[in-house]
Amino acid sequence: MPPIAVSARRGAPEQTDADTRVVGLFEGESIEDASLQALVESGEAKGGSGKVAVAHGDRKRVLIAGLGKRDELDAETARVAAAAAAGRARELGTRSLSWEALDGVAGALVEGTLLRLYRFDRFKSKEDENDGVESLELAGRTVSEEEVERARIGAEAQNKARDLQNLPANVATPVFLAERAAEIAAQHDSLELELLDREGIVAAGMGAFAGVSQGSDQEPRLIVLRYSGGDKGPHLGFVGKAVTFDTGGISIKPSAKMHEMKFDMSGGAAVIESLGAIAQLGLPVTITGVVPATENMPSGHSMRPGDVVTAMNGTTIEVNNTDAEGRLILADALCYAVGQGVERIVDLATLTGAIVVALGSTYAGLFSNDDDWCGEVEAAGKATGELGWRLPFHKEYEDLVKGEYADITNAPEGRKASSIVGAEFLRRFVDDRPWVHMDIAGTAWGMDRPYVRKGASGFGVRTLVDLASRNAA
Ligand code: BES
Ligand code: MN
Ligand code: ZN
Repeated sequence: MPPIAVSARRGAPEQTDADTRVVGLFEGESIEDASLQALVESGEAKGGSGKVAVAHGDRKRVLIAGLGKRDELDAETARVAAAAAAGRARELGTRSLSWEALDGVAGALVEGTLLRLYRFDRFKSKEDENDGVESLELAGRTVSEEEVERARIGAEAQNKARDLQNLPANVATPVFLAERAAEIAAQHDSLELELLDREGIVAAGMGAFAGVSQGSDQEPRLIVLRYSGGDKGPHLGFVGKAVTFDTGGISIKPSAKMHEMKFDMSGGAAVIESLGAIAQLGLPVTITGVVPATENMPSGHSMRPGDVVTAMNGTTIEVNNTDAEGRLILADALCYAVGQGVERIVDLATLTGAIVVALGSTYAGLFSNDDDWCGEVEAAGKATGELGWRLPFHKEYEDLVKGEYADITNAPEGRKASSIVGAEFLRRFVDDRPWVHMDIAGTAWGMDRPYVRKGASGFGVRTLVDLASRNAA
Protein backbone atom coordinates (compact mmCIF):
# COMPACT_ATOMS: atom_id res chain seq x y z
CA MET A 1 0.00 0.00 0.00
CA PRO A 2 1.66 3.28 -1.07
CA PRO A 3 1.40 6.10 1.49
CA ILE A 4 -1.63 8.39 1.25
CA ALA A 5 -0.71 11.95 0.27
CA VAL A 6 -1.81 14.28 3.07
CA SER A 7 -2.22 18.03 2.70
CA ALA A 8 -3.71 21.09 4.40
CA ARG A 9 -5.59 23.65 2.33
CA ARG A 10 -6.52 27.14 3.53
CA GLY A 11 -9.91 27.90 2.05
CA ALA A 12 -13.53 26.89 1.88
CA PRO A 13 -14.06 23.14 2.45
CA GLU A 14 -16.83 23.03 -0.20
CA GLN A 15 -14.41 24.18 -2.91
CA THR A 16 -12.40 21.01 -2.95
CA ASP A 17 -11.09 19.10 -5.97
CA ALA A 18 -11.45 15.83 -4.07
CA ASP A 19 -14.04 13.33 -5.29
CA THR A 20 -15.37 12.87 -1.76
CA ARG A 21 -15.89 15.57 0.83
CA VAL A 22 -16.68 14.90 4.49
CA VAL A 23 -18.90 17.23 6.48
CA GLY A 24 -19.11 16.85 10.25
CA LEU A 25 -22.52 16.81 11.90
CA PHE A 26 -23.01 17.45 15.60
CA GLU A 27 -25.89 15.83 17.40
CA GLY A 28 -28.98 18.02 17.45
CA GLU A 29 -27.50 20.55 15.00
CA SER A 30 -28.11 21.31 11.36
CA ILE A 31 -26.03 21.75 8.17
CA GLU A 32 -26.11 25.02 6.19
CA ASP A 33 -26.37 23.34 2.78
CA ALA A 34 -30.10 22.81 2.15
CA SER A 35 -29.87 19.49 0.30
CA LEU A 36 -27.64 18.02 3.01
CA GLN A 37 -29.91 19.39 5.71
CA ALA A 38 -32.78 17.53 4.04
CA LEU A 39 -30.94 14.29 4.86
CA VAL A 40 -30.59 15.40 8.46
CA GLU A 41 -34.31 16.15 8.66
CA SER A 42 -35.32 12.86 7.07
CA GLY A 43 -33.21 11.09 9.70
CA GLU A 44 -30.87 9.53 7.15
CA ALA A 45 -27.90 11.58 8.37
CA LYS A 46 -27.29 11.30 12.10
CA GLY A 47 -25.03 13.25 14.45
CA GLY A 48 -24.21 10.26 16.65
CA SER A 49 -20.49 9.56 16.93
CA GLY A 50 -19.34 7.17 14.21
CA LYS A 51 -22.49 7.46 12.02
CA VAL A 52 -22.03 8.12 8.29
CA ALA A 53 -24.53 9.05 5.57
CA VAL A 54 -23.81 9.43 1.85
CA ALA A 55 -25.09 12.16 -0.49
CA HIS A 56 -24.37 12.59 -4.20
CA GLY A 57 -23.98 15.90 -5.95
CA ASP A 58 -22.50 17.10 -9.19
CA ARG A 59 -19.99 14.24 -9.84
CA LYS A 60 -18.98 14.59 -6.21
CA ARG A 61 -19.86 12.62 -3.17
CA VAL A 62 -20.49 14.06 0.27
CA LEU A 63 -20.21 12.02 3.44
CA ILE A 64 -21.96 13.33 6.51
CA ALA A 65 -20.06 12.09 9.55
CA GLY A 66 -21.57 12.15 13.03
CA LEU A 67 -19.40 13.81 15.69
CA GLY A 68 -21.58 13.43 18.79
CA LYS A 69 -22.32 16.47 20.97
CA ARG A 70 -20.43 19.65 20.10
CA ASP A 71 -19.28 20.34 23.68
CA GLU A 72 -17.99 16.76 24.01
CA LEU A 73 -15.85 16.81 20.85
CA ASP A 74 -12.32 15.62 21.57
CA ALA A 75 -9.48 13.99 19.66
CA GLU A 76 -10.81 10.49 20.25
CA THR A 77 -14.31 11.27 18.90
CA ALA A 78 -12.64 12.84 15.87
CA ARG A 79 -10.48 9.72 15.29
CA VAL A 80 -13.59 7.55 15.49
CA ALA A 81 -15.59 9.77 13.09
CA ALA A 82 -12.67 9.92 10.66
CA ALA A 83 -12.34 6.14 10.76
CA ALA A 84 -16.03 5.64 10.04
CA ALA A 85 -15.90 8.07 7.11
CA ALA A 86 -12.68 6.55 5.76
CA GLY A 87 -14.11 3.03 5.89
CA ARG A 88 -17.19 4.11 3.98
CA ALA A 89 -15.14 6.15 1.51
CA ARG A 90 -13.04 3.09 0.68
CA GLU A 91 -16.15 0.98 0.09
CA LEU A 92 -17.49 3.64 -2.27
CA GLY A 93 -14.31 3.70 -4.32
CA THR A 94 -13.09 7.13 -3.21
CA ARG A 95 -9.66 8.17 -4.55
CA SER A 96 -9.36 11.61 -2.99
CA LEU A 97 -10.88 12.54 0.33
CA SER A 98 -11.36 15.99 1.87
CA TRP A 99 -12.31 16.64 5.49
CA GLU A 100 -13.32 19.99 6.87
CA ALA A 101 -10.58 20.93 9.33
CA LEU A 102 -12.55 21.16 12.55
CA ASP A 103 -10.89 23.40 15.13
CA GLY A 104 -8.48 21.58 17.43
CA VAL A 105 -9.05 18.10 16.00
CA ALA A 106 -7.67 18.35 12.47
CA GLY A 107 -4.69 16.21 13.51
CA ALA A 108 -6.96 13.59 15.03
CA LEU A 109 -8.95 13.42 11.77
CA VAL A 110 -5.71 12.69 9.92
CA GLU A 111 -4.79 9.99 12.44
CA GLY A 112 -8.22 8.34 12.33
CA THR A 113 -8.15 8.26 8.54
CA LEU A 114 -4.60 6.96 8.03
CA LEU A 115 -4.88 4.36 10.79
CA ARG A 116 -8.25 3.09 9.49
CA LEU A 117 -7.01 2.79 5.91
CA TYR A 118 -3.93 0.80 6.93
CA ARG A 119 -3.79 -2.62 5.39
CA PHE A 120 -1.17 -5.35 5.55
CA ASP A 121 -1.39 -7.06 2.18
CA ARG A 122 2.14 -7.70 1.09
CA PHE A 123 1.65 -11.45 1.04
CA LYS A 124 -1.63 -11.33 -0.90
CA SER A 125 -0.96 -12.22 -4.52
CA LYS A 126 -4.11 -10.42 -5.76
CA GLU A 127 -4.61 -6.71 -5.28
CA ASP A 128 -7.80 -5.56 -3.62
CA GLU A 129 -9.61 -3.32 -6.09
CA ASN A 130 -11.23 -1.38 -3.24
CA ASP A 131 -7.92 -0.15 -1.94
CA GLY A 132 -7.78 3.15 -3.66
CA VAL A 133 -7.78 6.19 -1.35
CA GLU A 134 -4.74 8.09 -2.63
CA SER A 135 -5.04 11.47 -0.97
CA LEU A 136 -6.44 13.18 2.08
CA GLU A 137 -6.93 16.91 2.39
CA LEU A 138 -7.84 18.92 5.48
CA ALA A 139 -9.53 22.11 4.41
CA GLY A 140 -10.57 25.17 6.37
CA ARG A 141 -9.92 28.85 6.79
CA THR A 142 -7.60 28.39 9.77
CA VAL A 143 -6.21 24.90 9.19
CA SER A 144 -2.71 24.45 10.63
CA GLU A 145 -0.32 22.83 8.20
CA GLU A 146 1.98 21.97 11.09
CA GLU A 147 -0.75 20.14 13.02
CA VAL A 148 -1.67 18.11 9.94
CA GLU A 149 1.97 17.25 9.24
CA ARG A 150 2.65 16.24 12.84
CA ALA A 151 -0.36 13.92 12.79
CA ARG A 152 0.68 12.42 9.47
CA ILE A 153 4.16 11.63 10.73
CA GLY A 154 2.85 10.03 13.93
CA ALA A 155 0.20 7.93 12.20
CA GLU A 156 2.57 6.78 9.46
CA ALA A 157 5.15 5.74 12.06
CA GLN A 158 2.43 3.80 13.85
CA ASN A 159 1.51 2.07 10.58
CA LYS A 160 5.17 1.18 10.02
CA ALA A 161 5.28 -0.36 13.48
CA ARG A 162 2.18 -2.35 12.48
CA ASP A 163 4.06 -3.62 9.43
CA LEU A 164 6.94 -4.84 11.64
CA GLN A 165 4.43 -6.51 13.95
CA ASN A 166 2.44 -8.16 11.18
CA LEU A 167 5.49 -9.52 9.38
CA PRO A 168 5.88 -13.19 10.22
CA ALA A 169 8.74 -14.33 12.41
CA ASN A 170 10.53 -15.99 9.48
CA VAL A 171 10.92 -12.50 7.99
CA ALA A 172 11.00 -10.15 10.98
CA THR A 173 13.99 -11.70 12.73
CA PRO A 174 16.20 -9.81 15.21
CA VAL A 175 18.62 -9.03 12.37
CA PHE A 176 15.71 -7.73 10.24
CA LEU A 177 14.65 -5.37 13.04
CA ALA A 178 18.24 -4.17 13.34
CA GLU A 179 18.27 -3.50 9.60
CA ARG A 180 15.06 -1.49 9.88
CA ALA A 181 16.66 0.55 12.68
CA ALA A 182 19.70 1.09 10.45
CA GLU A 183 17.47 2.25 7.61
CA ILE A 184 15.84 4.84 9.88
CA ALA A 185 19.18 5.95 11.33
CA ALA A 186 20.57 6.44 7.82
CA GLN A 187 17.76 8.88 7.04
CA HIS A 188 18.59 11.30 9.87
CA ASP A 189 21.87 12.87 11.01
CA SER A 190 20.32 13.23 14.47
CA LEU A 191 20.11 9.44 14.87
CA GLU A 192 22.98 7.11 15.61
CA LEU A 193 22.81 3.33 15.68
CA GLU A 194 24.79 0.86 17.72
CA LEU A 195 24.34 -2.90 17.46
CA LEU A 196 25.57 -5.69 19.68
CA ASP A 197 25.59 -9.22 18.27
CA ARG A 198 25.58 -12.47 20.26
CA GLU A 199 29.23 -12.16 21.20
CA GLY A 200 28.85 -8.49 22.09
CA ILE A 201 25.85 -9.25 24.28
CA VAL A 202 27.80 -11.90 26.18
CA ALA A 203 30.87 -9.65 26.42
CA ALA A 204 28.77 -6.81 27.85
CA GLY A 205 27.77 -9.09 30.73
CA MET A 206 24.16 -9.41 29.63
CA GLY A 207 23.77 -12.94 30.94
CA ALA A 208 19.97 -12.79 31.13
CA PHE A 209 19.55 -11.61 27.53
CA ALA A 210 22.18 -14.08 26.32
CA GLY A 211 20.44 -16.87 28.21
CA VAL A 212 17.18 -16.32 26.33
CA SER A 213 18.97 -16.05 22.98
CA GLN A 214 21.11 -19.14 23.38
CA GLY A 215 18.31 -21.52 22.36
CA SER A 216 17.83 -19.94 18.96
CA ASP A 217 19.79 -20.24 15.73
CA GLN A 218 18.68 -16.71 14.87
CA GLU A 219 21.36 -14.20 15.83
CA PRO A 220 20.11 -11.83 18.55
CA ARG A 221 20.75 -8.09 18.44
CA LEU A 222 20.82 -5.37 21.04
CA ILE A 223 19.58 -2.42 19.01
CA VAL A 224 20.53 1.00 20.37
CA LEU A 225 19.22 4.13 18.66
CA ARG A 226 20.53 7.45 19.97
CA TYR A 227 18.64 10.58 19.08
CA SER A 228 20.02 13.98 19.84
CA GLY A 229 17.88 16.97 19.02
CA GLY A 230 19.67 19.37 21.38
CA ASP A 231 21.39 19.34 24.77
CA LYS A 232 18.55 20.76 26.83
CA GLY A 233 15.88 18.83 28.69
CA PRO A 234 16.08 15.42 30.35
CA HIS A 235 17.72 12.42 28.70
CA LEU A 236 14.88 9.98 28.05
CA GLY A 237 15.26 6.21 27.77
CA PHE A 238 12.79 4.23 25.62
CA VAL A 239 13.14 0.47 26.03
CA GLY A 240 11.09 -2.06 24.05
CA LYS A 241 10.80 -5.85 24.26
CA ALA A 242 11.39 -7.48 20.88
CA VAL A 243 10.98 -11.23 21.10
CA THR A 244 10.50 -11.95 17.40
CA PHE A 245 8.89 -15.26 18.26
CA ASP A 246 8.03 -16.55 21.72
CA THR A 247 7.54 -20.31 21.76
CA GLY A 248 8.04 -20.28 25.52
CA GLY A 249 11.36 -22.12 25.14
CA ILE A 250 11.69 -25.39 27.07
CA SER A 251 8.64 -24.27 29.10
CA ILE A 252 6.86 -24.47 25.76
CA LYS A 253 3.51 -22.82 25.14
CA PRO A 254 0.42 -24.72 23.98
CA SER A 255 0.02 -24.65 20.19
CA ALA A 256 -3.36 -22.87 20.19
CA LYS A 257 -2.73 -19.22 19.39
CA MET A 258 1.03 -19.70 19.44
CA HIS A 259 1.14 -18.01 16.02
CA GLU A 260 0.22 -14.76 17.77
CA MET A 261 3.62 -14.79 19.41
CA LYS A 262 5.10 -13.17 16.31
CA PHE A 263 3.67 -10.02 17.92
CA ASP A 264 5.93 -10.40 20.95
CA MET A 265 8.23 -7.76 19.45
CA SER A 266 5.57 -5.03 19.56
CA GLY A 267 7.29 -2.94 22.24
CA GLY A 268 10.52 -2.88 20.25
CA ALA A 269 8.68 -1.97 17.05
CA ALA A 270 7.06 0.98 18.84
CA VAL A 271 10.42 2.22 20.12
CA ILE A 272 12.15 1.94 16.74
CA GLU A 273 9.41 3.63 14.71
CA SER A 274 8.72 6.33 17.31
CA LEU A 275 12.36 7.39 17.08
CA GLY A 276 12.00 7.67 13.31
CA ALA A 277 9.01 9.98 13.79
CA ILE A 278 10.76 12.04 16.48
CA ALA A 279 13.77 12.52 14.21
CA GLN A 280 11.50 13.51 11.32
CA LEU A 281 9.84 16.07 13.57
CA GLY A 282 13.25 17.26 14.78
CA LEU A 283 12.06 17.52 18.38
CA PRO A 284 14.61 19.19 20.71
CA VAL A 285 15.16 16.24 23.08
CA THR A 286 17.74 13.58 23.84
CA ILE A 287 16.59 9.96 23.72
CA THR A 288 18.31 6.63 23.92
CA GLY A 289 16.19 3.80 22.53
CA VAL A 290 17.19 0.28 23.57
CA VAL A 291 15.61 -2.78 21.96
CA PRO A 292 16.75 -6.28 22.92
CA ALA A 293 15.76 -8.47 19.98
CA THR A 294 15.80 -12.27 20.10
CA GLU A 295 13.77 -15.40 19.55
CA ASN A 296 12.73 -17.64 22.42
CA MET A 297 13.14 -21.21 21.16
CA PRO A 298 13.48 -24.73 22.57
CA SER A 299 16.60 -26.56 21.39
CA GLY A 300 19.62 -28.53 22.56
CA HIS A 301 21.29 -25.34 23.66
CA SER A 302 18.30 -23.67 25.31
CA MET A 303 18.23 -22.55 28.89
CA ARG A 304 16.68 -25.10 31.23
CA PRO A 305 14.18 -24.31 33.96
CA GLY A 306 16.28 -23.91 37.09
CA ASP A 307 19.28 -22.38 35.33
CA VAL A 308 20.81 -19.35 37.00
CA VAL A 309 21.90 -16.36 34.93
CA THR A 310 23.58 -13.11 35.93
CA ALA A 311 22.29 -9.78 34.59
CA MET A 312 24.51 -6.85 33.65
CA ASN A 313 24.15 -5.22 37.10
CA GLY A 314 25.27 -8.40 38.90
CA THR A 315 21.80 -9.53 39.99
CA THR A 316 21.52 -13.31 39.83
CA ILE A 317 18.31 -14.78 38.45
CA GLU A 318 16.82 -18.22 38.78
CA VAL A 319 15.02 -19.05 35.54
CA ASN A 320 12.12 -21.12 36.79
CA ASN A 321 10.09 -20.68 33.65
CA THR A 322 11.77 -20.06 30.29
CA ASP A 323 8.51 -18.52 29.07
CA ALA A 324 9.04 -15.53 31.37
CA GLU A 325 11.73 -14.39 28.92
CA GLY A 326 10.62 -10.81 28.39
CA ARG A 327 11.72 -9.69 31.83
CA LEU A 328 15.10 -11.40 31.33
CA ILE A 329 15.99 -9.52 28.15
CA LEU A 330 14.53 -6.28 29.53
CA ALA A 331 16.59 -6.60 32.72
CA ASP A 332 19.79 -6.24 30.68
CA ALA A 333 18.30 -3.64 28.33
CA LEU A 334 17.27 -1.50 31.30
CA CYS A 335 20.75 -1.85 32.85
CA TYR A 336 22.23 -0.79 29.54
CA ALA A 337 19.94 2.26 29.31
CA VAL A 338 20.86 3.25 32.88
CA GLY A 339 24.53 2.95 31.93
CA GLN A 340 23.89 5.38 29.05
CA GLY A 341 22.82 8.00 31.58
CA VAL A 342 19.07 8.10 30.87
CA GLU A 343 17.21 10.16 33.46
CA ARG A 344 13.62 9.01 32.83
CA ILE A 345 12.70 5.63 31.47
CA VAL A 346 9.66 4.14 29.82
CA ASP A 347 9.58 0.53 28.71
CA LEU A 348 6.96 -1.14 26.54
CA ALA A 349 6.53 -4.88 26.60
CA THR A 350 4.02 -7.60 25.77
CA LEU A 351 4.99 -9.00 29.13
CA THR A 352 2.12 -10.93 30.70
CA GLY A 353 -1.01 -12.81 29.71
CA ALA A 354 -2.52 -11.65 33.00
CA ILE A 355 -2.72 -8.03 31.85
CA VAL A 356 -5.00 -9.18 29.01
CA VAL A 357 -7.27 -10.78 31.59
CA ALA A 358 -7.24 -7.68 33.80
CA LEU A 359 -7.56 -4.82 31.30
CA GLY A 360 -8.43 -6.41 27.96
CA SER A 361 -7.43 -4.41 24.91
CA THR A 362 -8.68 -1.09 26.22
CA TYR A 363 -5.92 -0.06 28.64
CA ALA A 364 -2.26 -0.93 28.84
CA GLY A 365 -1.06 -1.68 32.38
CA LEU A 366 1.17 1.03 33.85
CA PHE A 367 3.63 0.40 36.67
CA SER A 368 5.87 3.09 38.09
CA ASN A 369 8.23 4.15 40.86
CA ASP A 370 7.54 7.85 40.26
CA ASP A 371 4.16 9.63 40.42
CA ASP A 372 5.14 12.63 38.29
CA TRP A 373 6.67 10.63 35.46
CA CYS A 374 3.74 8.20 35.55
CA GLY A 375 1.35 11.15 35.38
CA GLU A 376 3.12 12.36 32.26
CA VAL A 377 2.92 8.98 30.56
CA GLU A 378 -0.73 8.71 31.52
CA ALA A 379 -1.44 12.18 30.09
CA ALA A 380 0.36 11.33 26.86
CA GLY A 381 -1.78 8.19 26.61
CA LYS A 382 -4.98 10.17 27.11
CA ALA A 383 -3.98 12.64 24.41
CA THR A 384 -3.20 9.91 21.88
CA GLY A 385 -6.03 7.54 22.80
CA GLU A 386 -3.44 4.94 23.87
CA LEU A 387 -4.81 4.58 27.36
CA GLY A 388 -2.93 3.36 30.40
CA TRP A 389 -4.16 2.31 33.83
CA ARG A 390 -1.75 2.26 36.77
CA LEU A 391 -1.45 -0.80 38.98
CA PRO A 392 0.18 -0.77 42.40
CA PHE A 393 3.46 -1.83 43.92
CA HIS A 394 3.59 -3.14 47.51
CA LYS A 395 6.15 -4.67 49.85
CA GLU A 396 4.32 -7.99 49.71
CA TYR A 397 4.83 -8.22 45.95
CA GLU A 398 8.56 -7.72 46.48
CA ASP A 399 8.68 -10.97 48.42
CA LEU A 400 7.15 -12.81 45.46
CA VAL A 401 10.20 -12.25 43.25
CA LYS A 402 12.73 -13.49 45.85
CA GLY A 403 14.71 -16.44 44.59
CA GLU A 404 15.40 -19.68 46.43
CA TYR A 405 18.87 -20.25 44.98
CA ALA A 406 19.61 -16.84 43.43
CA ASP A 407 18.75 -13.21 44.21
CA ILE A 408 15.46 -13.28 42.34
CA THR A 409 13.30 -15.65 40.31
CA ASN A 410 11.78 -14.86 36.93
CA ALA A 411 8.63 -16.84 37.68
CA PRO A 412 7.32 -17.47 41.17
CA GLU A 413 5.15 -20.53 41.75
CA GLY A 414 1.47 -19.79 41.43
CA ARG A 415 0.03 -16.98 39.40
CA LYS A 416 -0.59 -14.36 42.07
CA ALA A 417 -0.45 -10.79 40.73
CA SER A 418 1.48 -12.02 37.71
CA SER A 419 1.59 -8.65 35.89
CA ILE A 420 2.71 -6.79 39.01
CA VAL A 421 5.34 -9.42 39.74
CA GLY A 422 6.71 -8.93 36.22
CA ALA A 423 6.93 -5.19 36.84
CA GLU A 424 8.45 -5.70 40.28
CA PHE A 425 11.14 -7.84 38.64
CA LEU A 426 11.95 -5.08 36.15
CA ARG A 427 12.12 -2.48 38.92
CA ARG A 428 15.31 -4.19 40.16
CA PHE A 429 17.12 -2.96 37.05
CA VAL A 430 16.22 0.74 36.80
CA ASP A 431 18.55 2.04 39.53
CA ASP A 432 15.68 3.98 41.16
CA ARG A 433 15.40 6.34 38.18
CA PRO A 434 11.92 7.59 37.33
CA TRP A 435 10.50 4.75 35.28
CA VAL A 436 7.20 3.57 33.84
CA HIS A 437 6.65 0.05 32.58
CA MET A 438 3.80 -0.35 30.08
CA ASP A 439 2.50 -3.88 29.78
CA ILE A 440 1.01 -3.83 26.27
CA ALA A 441 0.20 -7.55 25.94
CA GLY A 442 -3.51 -6.69 25.62
CA THR A 443 -3.26 -3.60 23.42
CA ALA A 444 -0.49 -4.46 20.95
CA TRP A 445 -2.92 -6.36 18.76
CA GLY A 446 -6.63 -7.17 18.63
CA MET A 447 -7.60 -3.70 19.81
CA ASP A 448 -11.21 -3.02 19.06
CA ARG A 449 -11.17 0.66 18.14
CA PRO A 450 -12.88 1.82 14.95
CA TYR A 451 -9.50 3.11 13.71
CA VAL A 452 -7.40 0.05 14.72
CA ARG A 453 -9.31 -3.17 14.61
CA LYS A 454 -7.94 -6.64 13.98
CA GLY A 455 -4.23 -7.46 13.96
CA ALA A 456 -1.37 -5.24 14.94
CA SER A 457 -2.19 -1.87 16.52
CA GLY A 458 1.14 -0.06 16.63
CA PHE A 459 0.24 0.81 20.23
CA GLY A 460 2.68 3.14 21.93
CA VAL A 461 4.23 4.88 18.94
CA ARG A 462 2.17 8.06 19.24
CA THR A 463 2.48 8.03 23.04
CA LEU A 464 6.28 7.96 22.79
CA VAL A 465 6.25 10.79 20.24
CA ASP A 466 3.90 12.78 22.49
CA LEU A 467 6.14 12.13 25.52
CA ALA A 468 9.13 13.37 23.56
CA SER A 469 7.36 16.59 22.63
CA ARG A 470 6.23 17.10 26.22
CA ASN A 471 9.85 16.84 27.32
CA ALA A 472 11.22 18.97 24.51
CA ALA A 473 13.36 21.90 25.64
N1 BES B 1 4.84 -12.92 25.58
C1 BES B 1 4.26 -13.52 26.72
C2 BES B 1 3.08 -12.72 27.27
C3 BES B 1 1.81 -12.76 26.44
C4 BES B 1 0.90 -13.78 26.61
C5 BES B 1 1.52 -11.73 25.59
C6 BES B 1 -0.28 -13.77 25.88
C7 BES B 1 0.34 -11.71 24.87
C8 BES B 1 -0.56 -12.74 25.01
C9 BES B 1 5.28 -13.61 27.84
O1 BES B 1 6.60 -13.83 27.44
C10 BES B 1 4.89 -14.76 28.71
O2 BES B 1 4.94 -15.87 28.23
N2 BES B 1 4.54 -14.48 29.96
C11 BES B 1 4.14 -15.47 30.90
C12 BES B 1 4.90 -15.24 32.19
C13 BES B 1 4.75 -16.36 33.19
C14 BES B 1 5.44 -17.60 32.68
C15 BES B 1 5.35 -15.90 34.51
C16 BES B 1 2.65 -15.35 31.14
O3 BES B 1 2.14 -14.21 31.23
O4 BES B 1 1.98 -16.37 31.19
MN1 MN C 1 7.00 -15.90 27.13
ZN1 ZN D 1 7.06 -13.14 25.54
